[in-house]
Amino acid sequence: MCGIVGYIGHREAYPIIIKGLQRLEYRGYDSAGIVLFDGENTNLSKTKGKVEDLKRKSKVSISTNGKLGLGHTRWATHGVPNDVNSHPHYSNSGDLVIIHNGIIENYESVKKALVNRGYEFHSDTDTEVLVNLIEEVKNKEGVMLGKAVQIALNQVVGAYAIAVFDKNKPDEIVVAKLGSPLAIGIGDGEYFIASDASPFIEFTNNAVYLEDGEMAIIRLGKEIKLRKIKNDAIAYPNILELQLNLEEIEKGGYDHFMLKEIYEQPRAIKDTYRGRLLADEGIVRMAGIDQNMERFLNANRIIIVACGTSWHAGLVAEYIFEDLARIPVEVEYASEFRYRNPVITENDVLIAISQSGETADTLAAIKMAKEKGAFVFGVCNVVGSSIARETHAGAYTHAGPEIGVASTKAFTTQITVLTLIALKLAKEKGSLSEAEFHGYLTELEGIPAKVEKALESNALIETIATEYKDSTNCLYLGRGYNFPVALEGALKLKEISYIHAEGYPAAEMKHGPIALIDEEMPVVVIATRKGHYEKVVSNIQEIKSRSGRIIAVVTEGDESVKELADHVVEVPETSEPLTPLLTTIPLQLLSYHIALMRGCNVDQPRNLAKSVTVE
Ligand code: F6R
Repeated sequence: MCGIVGYIGHREAYPIIIKGLQRLEYRGYDSAGIVLFDGENTNLSKTKGKVEDLKRKSKVSISTNGKLGLGHTRWATHGVPNDVNSHPHYSNSGDLVIIHNGIIENYESVKKALVNRGYEFHSDTDTEVLVNLIEEVKNKEGVMLGKAVQIALNQVVGAYAIAVFDKNKPDEIVVAKLGSPLAIGIGDGEYFIASDASPFIEFTNNAVYLEDGEMAIIRLGKEIKLRKIKNDAIAYPNILELQLNLEEIEKGGYDHFMLKEIYEQPRAIKDTYRGRLLADEGIVRMAGIDQNMERFLNANRIIIVACGTSWHAGLVAEYIFEDLARIPVEVEYASEFRYRNPVITENDVLIAISQSGETADTLAAIKMAKEKGAFVFGVCNVVGSSIARETHAGAYTHAGPEIGVASTKAFTTQITVLTLIALKLAKEKGSLSEAEFHGYLTELEGIPAKVEKALESNALIETIATEYKDSTNCLYLGRGYNFPVALEGALKLKEISYIHAEGYPAAEMKHGPIALIDEEMPVVVIATRKGHYEKVVSNIQEIKSRSGRIIAVVTEGDESVKELADHVVEVPETSEPLTPLLTTIPLQLLSYHIALMRGCNVDQPRNLAKSVTVE
């Protein structure tokens, strides 16, 4: 949940680290810090707040010299966000400097032992404990930094991606990974370290992603030395050539990443189905499914695990799989599933959905299901992420980097992949007629153009937002395929505008939430023509007769809802299973505009982080 960056080479490290931190700020943004090392002296600057605050502070407090540097942007776990708790942290002697993403779970007992042996602590962090443990090991055992890191890590429990250097070894950084991501960029006479490749993409396309339980000694002028933390075994770096480009991780003229990513959806959905959906030939091609077709066809059931928005995509998938492929599906919050001793058999297929591929609870659920013999399939966006590597097979969403903390294109591309899988299985099982199957393929192929059309309502939605920006509550209702969309709409509003919002199946309203409705309550109702239309219209009438304010998302050309609702936003017509891909668009835009009007930080909402690598 934090971002880490490091550099060692022939350039000034300062601008590389600062820019890198800005790109990683989606991972955490309550405090930030940087250390530079010129071979003799270190220069440290840390502050509560964002990288922009660090930039201001470090301009006056730090000399920009130093061709070795480490930087950190934090999402607090142990210790409140303040200057002192920010990383990097020094060891007691001042010789070792560390940055850390993750949690050292047994830090209290380690700290107590270190205090008894005379160590002093200035912060409340688990990280300061780790760097002092490394120092103690180094001094006691008389070993080099790499060995000391290894011994110390074998004494701690938890998750980490760390980078540490020793002032007495100016040409070396030691890194290690367990449970948090860590990439090493390999340049010409220089190395980069980061939580993902975005900080170094303009310098090199060559990167090594550390596996869990690996550490590396990065020494200038030498090749990276990789080894296992547990047993010293040598590991061989698998150097990947990255496809990422700079444009993809910049705002490209939009005011916010979130807006850019909302508008990218037509392109992202196309990229998701490119090469997989061959509508003219009547084929869905997905290697990960083809190679494991028997597992899917013989599955007792599919269990979907995910968190947040990805969980909502899982709910949509439940409707699609059951409806089209006639396979029973259960959708679980990964955080509940992993702790509730679920019944899992070898005939179960588990699908894990995750944009980042790093969500700790989802990863833990996967590991548990694998231990119990289930076949695990991943749907991830980030290539090479932990979940992508941990699963037996998978399909990437190919949405491109999603940097706004609120998920948008991740959601629609996840649904696209899951629809393709459902269609493929339906074809194999014969649960759809040829005509139905072809109909869906053609319809899915046309979705990007319809999303484009749905985006044309932006100006109308902005006007609607002005009326509701000061609301304190908001209700979202939908039925069938649009029930998860209601949940997702509510999540988007609450996470970026801090307005309390609830999503409900429309028919459940009368079992409780209807008591909340008065003239102050905006109710967003998804009332597309396909999908229990008459019943939703009755729900709208119930809201109307209690003076609720209705914002309805309807199918193009709808007249009946217009007469009842205060505002109507149209989306193009499509087949029912694909409606979430369209109805979610106005809800994303509504939350964006309301948040903006309330002066909220749309891309970096308070208390959140893009990738939740702690449980
Ligand atoms: C909401 C949001 C989160 C994530 C959740 C899972 O907009 O972004 O709810 O969906 O943290 O993250 P991933 O998909 O990376 O596993």
